[in-house]
Amino acid sequence: MNVQARHTADATTAEEGLAIQQEQSRFDSKAATDLAMQNTLLTPRFYTTDFDELDAIDVSPVRKDWDELLEQMRSDPNKGHFRKTEDWDKVDWDGMEPELKAEFLDFLISSCTAEFSGCVLYKEMKRRGNNPDICELFSYMSRDEARHAGFINDALREAGVAVNLGFLTREKKYTYFRPKFIYYATYLSEKIGYARYITIYRHLEAHPEHRFHPIFKWFREWCNDEFSHGEAFALLMRTDPKITQSFTSKLWIRFFLTAIYSTMWVRDHARPRFHEALGVDIDWYDMEVFRKTSEIARQVFPVEIDIENPRFVRGCKRLDAAMRDMETAKRRGGAMGALGRVGAGARAAMAFASIYTMPARRTEPPASVRLQPTY
Ligand SMILES: [Fe+2]
Ligand SMILES: [Fe+2]
Repeated sequence: MNVQARHTADATTAEEGLAIQQEQSRFDSKAATDLAMQNTLLTPRFYTTDFDELDAIDVSPVRKDWDELLEQMRSDPNKGHFRKTEDWDKVDWDGMEPELKAEFLDFLISSCTAEFSGCVLYKEMKRRGNNPDICELFSYMSRDEARHAGFINDALREAGVAVNLGFLTREKKYTYFRPKFIYYATYLSEKIGYARYITIYRHLEAHPEHRFHPIFKWFREWCNDEFSHGEAFALLMRTDPKITQSFTSKLWIRFFLTAIYSTMWVRDHARPRFHEALGVDIDWYDMEVFRKTSEIARQVFPVEIDIENPRFVRGCKRLDAAMRDMETAKRRGGAMGALGRVGAGARAAMAFASIYTMPARRTEPPASVRLQPTY
């Protein structure tokens, strides 16, 4: 099989996509892979879970919606989409302002790692499972994520810094999450991914002069994949009311909302030049993404955190400041550095707690769970 002449955009399985990436990986950069290997509070992680428990899910309670969603995924609307075409304008990496270049590369590398993290988890579920419904779903989702990661890597390769995905699979640390937590975290990441991609896409549609890289032109079809993935997790959660309705589930849902929203805030605020180049005010952008995500999440979550409460933004800002001080203290090292880290860590925990303990909003998820991407 000549993998070199083939492209991840056409790969119909995650394995095929990865084989193509593997072939190309001899050109990939150590620096980019090192960055993708990092495991901090803010960098995308790789997850593993109790695959047997996931495999035991019976989708009968949502059969009709399930079959419709799977039919759509089976038809593979985005096959061939994730490749460079004549719409891919030439990128002047060398002429790019160094700070913007650094932040944009960081954005691409962390996006690639996040996409790939989904690919690895979904592929593993497909490999280990016996339940035909579950295996089929996870094979489509891993196929999509392999394409997404592969496409970002194509963009990175032009800058000479692509991530070695095979190396990541073998060497990156895996964090264990119970299936229930995988549902909350992945559901939210998929829907937040949709909201992020579509918000940037719509903004650049109105302000094309800010489109400083061609990859943004691909975001609309891209976000539709993420939307469907989120729908799949919404359906999985709907198979059993306990997953979202019990008292402790609600506490965990609030925890994941707090963690995922506040991490996104801190991560985005670390890239001021990137957002400036896009012509995007970061506070506006993040709040817009949270609004869309919260609205969508009402399809399945009976609680949401009140992002309009002034405590929310205040908490995010305090967390951001604490995380920056933590970085400074880490760089400083020594006894003073250690002391600084403890102080900053305590402030970060307080900021997190102040968001988590805000009065939650309760909603009644609708009888029919399915949604269409409408933004
Ligand atoms: Fe993706
Ligand atoms: Fe996805």
